[in-house]
Amino acid sequence: MVVKKKAVRDLIFPPSRQVNLLLFNLADFKIAVIILTLYIVNCFHIMNKAEDHILVVFGATGDLAFRKIAPALYYMKLYGNLPENFELIGIGRKNLNTVDFRKRMREGIISFSEEKELKYDVIEALLRHFIYIQSDLVSPEDYRSLKLMIEQLNVERKMNGNCIFYFAVPPGKFIDITNHLSEAGLTVESDGFRRFVYEKPFGYDLASCRELNNTLHSILSEKQIYRIDHYLGKETVQNLLVTRFSNGLFEPLWNRNYIHHVEVTAAESIGVENRGGFYDSSGALRDMVQNHLLHMVGLTAMEPPSSLQPDAIGNEILKVFQSLQVIKEEEVPEYVVRGQYTASVVRGESLPGYRQEPGVNPDSRTETFVAIKFFINNWRWGGVPFYMRTGKKLPARVTEIVIHFKPTPHFLFHIDDMDKSVNQLILRIQPDEGIVLKFSIKKPGTGFSVENVSMDFHYSDLEQARIPSAYERLLGDVMTGDKTLFARDDIVEAAWKFLEPINNAWATNPDIRIYGYPAGTWGPEKADELIGEGLTWRYPCKNIADEGLYCEL
Ligand SMILES: NC(=O)c1ccc[n+]([C@@H]2O[C@H](COP(=O)([O-])OP(=O)(O)OC[C@H]3O[C@@H](n4cnc5c(N)ncnc54)[C@H](OP(=O)(O)O)[C@@H]3O)[C@@H](O)[C@H]2O)c1
Repeated sequence: MVVKKKAVRDLIFPPSRQVNLLLFNLADFKIAVIILTLYIVNCFHIMNKAEDHILVVFGATGDLAFRKIAPALYYMKLYGNLPENFELIGIGRKNLNTVDFRKRMREGIISFSEEKELKYDVIEALLRHFIYIQSDLVSPEDYRSLKLMIEQLNVERKMNGNCIFYFAVPPGKFIDITNHLSEAGLTVESDGFRRFVYEKPFGYDLASCRELNNTLHSILSEKQIYRIDHYLGKETVQNLLVTRFSNGLFEPLWNRNYIHHVEVTAAESIGVENRGGFYDSSGALRDMVQNHLLHMVGLTAMEPPSSLQPDAIGNEILKVFQSLQVIKEEEVPEYVVRGQYTASVVRGESLPGYRQEPGVNPDSRTETFVAIKFFINNWRWGGVPFYMRTGKKLPARVTEIVIHFKPTPHFLFHIDDMDKSVNQLILRIQPDEGIVLKFSIKKPGTGFSVENVSMDFHYSDLEQARIPSAYERLLGDVMTGDKTLFARDDIVEAAWKFLEPINNAWATNPDIRIYGYPAGTWGPEKADELIGEGLTWRYPCKNIADEGLYCEL
């Protein structure tokens, strides 16, 4: 027995590396010191605390500040994640004063916090540190006043000069405002840090993204720039890293030898709401694929990073993007399907089509749905098809990554049961965050009938079930200076580069069709042809349009 144990131990740890008190040699000691050092560094990384600072929000009267930023700050305050000294200067064009602004932020917190039981004393304690400035952000004088206010607050509150500037304004204003801040002397890190948070979309195409990066780099260092892709702030997106790299179980299977294809879906049940004007100049490819979907692909397909340092993870994601097989303009009809929702009736309720939405051009050819088949040309993924799709007015709000494993090389059981023998790993990003593993078992009874079952893990089953919002996590990271979950300049450019031929083909070739799909269905039928080979997309919830009322979630 003893011999057996030793043999197993030797197999796992070569004898020269076993920590044996009697044979503790210098090499082992050095390794132990390195591991301990790494552990301590990692602990500090996790325990980083936000330093005192002033948060300046440009666009503080907008939807993002109302629905996302204000509730996120409330939870940070509630859970003790805001620094001791924290001031917020909100800037908008609306004619408000500080009292009105606090009232608006209070409404945002109350309406969009996930919990019903709110701590009103915490809300008031937070709002006491909010100040409003009205400005159209054009006059240099306004920036000089902003600088004065920041200096005064620093003296009054005995703060150390740290500042975060959050750009919750239309992307067309990013360069302009950064230039003004630079002229006013607010970009230089002479007294405390200066961090600059840019909302998506970061650019409109490859050229505008490069221009934006170049202009920002002429004023700021990359270290100061935080490009937000709020999908990266989602707990379940980060869990992709942990699922993949903390389990020995998956890595041997995570490649072209065992994976048949990979599917990434980000479905929205809502339409364009009151953002028709903005959306019509953007579309699903720019709004969802360029950032959220491609980042999920990056994390699914990347090689293990050398550490959890931001650049180590970024380098691996960049390599995936650089390995994406270019879809040439002439191949776009073969690999990409675009669609637009049309009027429909869902549960007896009439829904308008996209072209009837307020702010949308009645002849618009902007896509509200896009599905893409593509390949990653590297040793791990060569030949494995990846499929991604996203759309508005689909039957459900659901984001998930599905790893479809190859079937067994020879099916031993009844041929009719072959379809039931499906192995899938479903990583559910939202809602009902969790992981499902589908596999086959013997159906109880005589013979060898096969049945497919699911092993289902829900985050909500955990004792500490509260999942912080993406904005809470990302704001916290900006405050502590952790750039792991922010998009790097070269990564954003690589993503635009991949999409460039698709955008060009759609813009220049009127023969490429845009397919209609009734609101409340899973997109154009043409998208089913894309996945081909007798396969179908996974439908986490069937159509809720009147012809099929059924939902799996
Ligand atoms: N809302 C979201 O959930 C969401 C999600 C992801 C990314 N984003 C991004 O976040 C940014 C803000 O989005 P939002 O939804 O909050 O937009 P929004 O509701 O339209 O608000 C925009 C804000 O910017 C101000 N603003 C608009 N045009 C301006 C101009 N020309 N000069 C100066 N200020 C101007 C507005 O001021 P007034 O209202 O006072 O006129 C308002 O405070 C955009 O880049 C958007 O793409 C938003």
